[in-house]
Amino acid sequence: MSHTVLIEDDGGVRHLTLNRPDKKNAFSNEQWSAFTDAMLAAQEDDSVKVVLLSGTGGNFSSGQDLSAFMDATADEEHPFARCARTVCAFDKPLIAAVEGIAVGGGATLAMHADVVYVADTLRMRLPFVSLGLVPEFASSYTLQASIGARRAAELFYTAEWINAERALETGIATARFPVEELLPHALDKAREIAQWPVNALRETKRCLKVAHEAGLQAALAAEEAGMEKQAGSAENIEAITAFIEKRPPKF
Ligand code: COA
Repeated sequence: MSHTVLIEDDGGVRHLTLNRPDKKNAFSNEQWSAFTDAMLAAQEDDSVKVVLLSGTGGNFSSGQDLSAFMDATADEEHPFARCARTVCAFDKPLIAAVEGIAVGGGATLAMHADVVYVADTLRMRLPFVSLGLVPEFASSYTLQASIGARRAAELFYTAEWINAERALETGIATARFPVEELLPHALDKAREIAQWPVNALRETKRCLKVAHEAGLQAALAAEEAGMEKQAGSAENIEAITAFIEKRPPKF
């Protein structure tokens, strides 16, 4: 059992906690796999009605572990790709309780949640262009679908920081709470959902998502093609080297 994703059951609520606090819960390859396995297990277990996602140490997640970004070899599938497919296909209600850092994959994972609660401490960012990359996790679709094309374009092109107020105002967040109230509130709502029958919840999610399916799949394919061009490009290597060397990049 991996310690990078903590798994707890509370009645029909499965609570998954991203747990790599010293790296702000960045996703190593091992963590992508552990998280994917946990989502698949939650999907298959009929006693699980709803999944609640959160992170330890005051942060949700800083996304892909940049020091491991170049680790996957070209002939093997990156564990992120399996995770993205699994999350896109996840068919039970998903709640995200997002505090502190939610950057890159940490932000775009939260965008797959049906309900997103944020804490006042939120520091969200879609840093893809600043890394010489393109959006991932079908976020080029999910963000537009939830907040509209104009607002999504501004956030992607500027890679600016998004605080709790902006997240709520744009519609990225369902509601905002003082940090100490975030998890208790999210858990209460998850329990409220978990009182209902699992198949009715699943069918409802299917109805809510059906109109989005083609958009999600098209976004995943377009993003994969863009990533193939940009990952490992001179722009991307400079951005990651600068992060590791703790200096501003020179583009
Ligand atoms: N990959 C690898 N390491 C990461 C990381 C990531 N995505 N995010 C944070 N870390 C590490 C830092 O290198 C640092 O490690 P160290 O203590 O060994 O030096 C530690 O986690 C704490 O992060 P730090 O940068 O000191 O915290 P901060 O509060 O000043 O800034 C962030 C937090 C998230 C803003 C900053 O770490 C950052 O920009 N990370 C990169 C996020 C990113 O671009 N992710 C998207 C990838 S697609």
